[in-house]
Amino acid sequence: MQVTINAAMTIDGKIATRKGDSAISSKDDLARVHRLRSAADAVVVGISTVIADNPKLTVRLVKGKNPARVIVDSNARIPLNSQILLSASKVRTIIAVTKGAPKEKILKIKDMGAVVVVAGAKGSVDVNKMFLALEEMGIRKVLVEGGGELNWSILQTGIIDDLIVTIAPIIAGGRSATTLVEGEGFAKISDSIKFKLIRVLRKRSGEVVLHYKPVR
Ligand SMILES: NC(=O)c1ccc[n+]([C@@H]2O[C@H](COP(=O)([O-])OP(=O)(O)OC[C@H]3O[C@@H](n4cnc5c(N)ncnc54)[C@H](OP(=O)(O)O)[C@@H]3O)[C@@H](O)[C@H]2O)c1
Repeated sequence: MQVTINAAMTIDGKIATRKGDSAISSKDDLARVHRLRSAADAVVVGISTVIADNPKLTVRLVKGKNPARVIVDSNARIPLNSQILLSASKVRTIIAVTKGAPKEKILKIKDMGAVVVVAGAKGSVDVNKMFLALEEMGIRKVLVEGGGELNWSILQTGIIDDLIVTIAPIIAGGRSATTLVEGEGFAKISDSIKFKLIRVLRKRSGEVVLHYKPVR
């Protein structure tokens, strides 16, 4: 499995405002993300991102194929009127849930054309199990598009190969605004995950795109 995390953040590390507005990057940078999507077998996001943004997660700004969309959603909370489910019969859609997810909702999700993968018994989706299931479904190249909680879980697995972050020249502030990586976090800097910077792209928009690889 080849896993890339991509995100756009403000100078102060927020990936959305305190009200959940995440329209951070320029159209040019969005086109770069759509190119990454079209090169991936699947795009993965957390359920809070689907609820906040109601995204399509398709390739529209460049020419290319749509990847499968994978939603990490322990209790199958995905709204039946979300853009993801409304397009599930046309674009491959996988909802990763736990055994605790309500059976009736799972049936409704399947009826709309999505595939449901059970990864984990209770609590949160077991992302290691989810990646194994995705691999069995022929998915090898994955693009993780957040949000902060999912980024933390995936970074903790140590599975990622690339981290690409666009920094937009803006500050959003807000102590409750979501940052690039949420979760519990490390207590000591010496325990933190280390990266090496392999590429820097400076855009006319004033954005910089930073490409990191983990130090193994
Ligand atoms: N700027 C950007 O690039 C960008 C990209 C994406 C999102 N965003 C923004 O980020 C915000 C959402 O981020 P978020 O951090 O609140 O949520 P998130 O990471 O999108 O979703 C987190 C939720 O996913 C579910 N989940 C299930 N298994 C999980 C696991 N193992 N690890 C982590 N989560 C798991 C949990 O809900 P259940 O317990 O119900 O399953 C959890 O609360 C939105 O405002 C969105 O606009 C910005």
